[in-house]
Amino acid sequence: MVSVLFVCLGNICRSPTAEGVFRDLCEREGMAGSVRVDSAGTGAYHIGSPPDERAQAAARKRGVDLSGQRARQVARTDFDAFDYVIAMDRANVSRLHQVCPPDRQDRVRLFLDFAPDAPVREVPDPYYGGGDGFETVLDLIEAASAGLLADIRTRTKGGP
Ligand code: 4NP
Repeated sequence: MVSVLFVCLGNICRSPTAEGVFRDLCEREGMAGSVRVDSAGTGAYHIGSPPDERAQAAARKRGVDLSGQRARQVARTDFDAFDYVIAMDRANVSRLHQVCPPDRQDRVRLFLDFAPDAPVREVPDPYYGGGDGFETVLDLIEAASAGLLADIRTRTKGGP
């Protein structure tokens, strides 16, 4: 079993979207039983909240249901529990490096490093922007999810 934790600031927009999209991809690719997926935020503002309505609506249009998710904050134990701790932007990579035990730093990754052809390196925070921001987030997350699954397949030598 490979485990993946997606991380953003609030855990109500980008990382829940990544959790939903990536889990959906794993199910479609027959990898659901081999990959555990979760998400968390570096901030504490929205603990216990469902994903932002705009994120849920945008994901739903692409067939992904985020409604069952609830926000939580990253815990120190996450760095032992998850093989991949994947941040949406560099600010969150920095925050994760600050709270991560020294021997687990290499588990922290920038999500768009799995999408080398994407036009940007960070998934932009859509919280204060318009509706288009959530479409951009989904496009970037879909691209990086494909790259991440390929990385996991390589790591597990061909998958199930
Ligand atoms: P997220 O978006 O990090 O993608 O969940 C945000 C959600 C809430 C806030 C910032 C970003 N906030 O400042 O409350």
